[in-house]
Amino acid sequence: MALLSIRGDWHLYLWLIYRKIYSAVIWLLGNHCRGDKSRSVISVVAGSQSLAGLHRVRTRRRKPQQHRNKHVVALVRRPSLRRIVMAPGASTAHAMMEDKEKALSNVSMRRRRISQFAPLLIALVGLPARGKSQLAHRLSRHLNWNGESTKVFDCSEYRRRHMAMYGSHDIFRADNLQGSAIRSQSAREAVQDAVLWLKDGNSVAIFDGTNVTKEQRRELNECITDMGFRILFIECVCEDQELLERNIIEILHYSADYKTMTEEEAIDDLRKKLEHYMRQYEPIDANSEALSFVRVENMGDTVTAHKVSGQKESGILGYLSGMRALPQTLYFTRHGESEYNVVGRIGGDAVLSPRGESYAHGLAVHLNELAAHEPLTVWTSELRRTKQTAADIMAPKRAIRALNELDAGICEGLTYEEMQERFPQEFAWRDQDKLRYRYPWGESYIDIMTRLRPVLSALEDEHNVVVVGHQAVLRCMLGYFLDAQLDELPYMNVPLHTIVKLTSYGYKYKLEMIKLPIDCVDTHRKQPKNCSINRTTADALVTVPSHYDTLPSNMWQNSEAQL
Ligand code: F6P
Repeated sequence: MALLSIRGDWHLYLWLIYRKIYSAVIWLLGNHCRGDKSRSVISVVAGSQSLAGLHRVRTRRRKPQQHRNKHVVALVRRPSLRRIVMAPGASTAHAMMEDKEKALSNVSMRRRRISQFAPLLIALVGLPARGKSQLAHRLSRHLNWNGESTKVFDCSEYRRRHMAMYGSHDIFRADNLQGSAIRSQSAREAVQDAVLWLKDGNSVAIFDGTNVTKEQRRELNECITDMGFRILFIECVCEDQELLERNIIEILHYSADYKTMTEEEAIDDLRKKLEHYMRQYEPIDANSEALSFVRVENMGDTVTAHKVSGQKESGILGYLSGMRALPQTLYFTRHGESEYNVVGRIGGDAVLSPRGESYAHGLAVHLNELAAHEPLTVWTSELRRTKQTAADIMAPKRAIRALNELDAGICEGLTYEEMQERFPQEFAWRDQDKLRYRYPWGESYIDIMTRLRPVLSALEDEHNVVVVGHQAVLRCMLGYFLDAQLDELPYMNVPLHTIVKLTSYGYKYKLEMIKLPIDCVDTHRKQPKNCSINRTTADALVTVPSHYDTLPSNMWQNSEAQL
């Protein structure tokens, strides 16, 4: 009977078994799909791992009942654990897709973790005449001095390579297709060269362009970070009318674009060019653009940093916040001829020779005339010969230890001939690499550059300062302002009894040498051809300038005659 009744209900049992299998398959499929979704999010993230700097990605499974409401994807970044949590009820395919997109955009918006030590591209942003080029070149000078090999890539120079001659503002109109093509091509070329510079092992490239649209910045940001370089945008804003006018005047005077135009033509053209740019300009929006950037207002009046991290970037931020953009004139002079100079001795703390005193007098006459009209300040070293030289200048004075002459260590007080006699090997090593050579117990040129850093930063924001210094120290200071090659510094000719006047124009300095007619010895020793440690004494001393022992004995009478 029982068998009969089972047989009678067999279709019922079959239907029950079928339901069981069906629900099991549905359950499995459901879980599988969720697993796939989480994997698809993760695989995209993992795919971009090297770019985004995500170190590890892992999914966390929840209990079955939680799966219905929540889906958790944990993106593990060092040092913090980041999670993108989907809200309950967001498990429909549409919501999943939306949340996935959000998660992905979050990932790409987050700054990719690129090593602190990776090369850095600095991209300027802003309208023309906002001081971008000045900032670029000052920053480059500062960074180079601090050992970060830096170069500026000026977009307008690349643009000029595509045109036989600058035509007009028309090229900057957004709807001028040919003009836009030339401008984008120039920007691409400048960035390509900047990237090559960084790939060559240099530390910083500054892309001096306008980068006025969001799209341009997004593309640049993505391209540079994809290559594993760091990127920092610096936006220059200028609301100060006086500063703006000054910048405009400098562009009109010094821009290669306006060389062949009359002043009226140039003013009109620049005004129209500015209007074209204003129509295209989208200031950086910290909310919608995930960029690391610094906004510099009025050339350093206000500096705001957004998402700025890293050693180099922090240093740059510090430099920008101390920067001012005043036109400046600076004067540099070595002390008057000292008693040591006369006999060819180096270092020491000698007083001035009679001719050196005459120079001190002549210098005071020259500068006091200036001091009568404009405030002047004098900076000297702490050594007697500079203080004596500045004594008669009617202006406030500061003695600064960092301006003291190169410390020649065991060679202090010797002549070059005595150095060759006592330490021929040291003398040869110095000739082989004068920039880096450090006297035993003394200093190198690199050491002086380091101790001069704060003085130079302070001097950059001064006007009408007279620095009364020494041969090696002034070589470094002038080299800084004139952007000289570092290896050239130790051989720059900074003669005695000469005032060196530097006047800023744009980001450059005009150099004037004012030689006062008071005789003095020459202390400039050129690099000899033979720098080998086996050279003869004659070869080692071939470029040593003559000094008192070899000068005519009536030198003192001559100097009196000049007075
Ligand atoms: O000779 C004058 C002097 O100022 C020395 O005191 C100093 O050691 C020297 O110049 C630096 O010049 P150089 O590096 O060419 O020897």
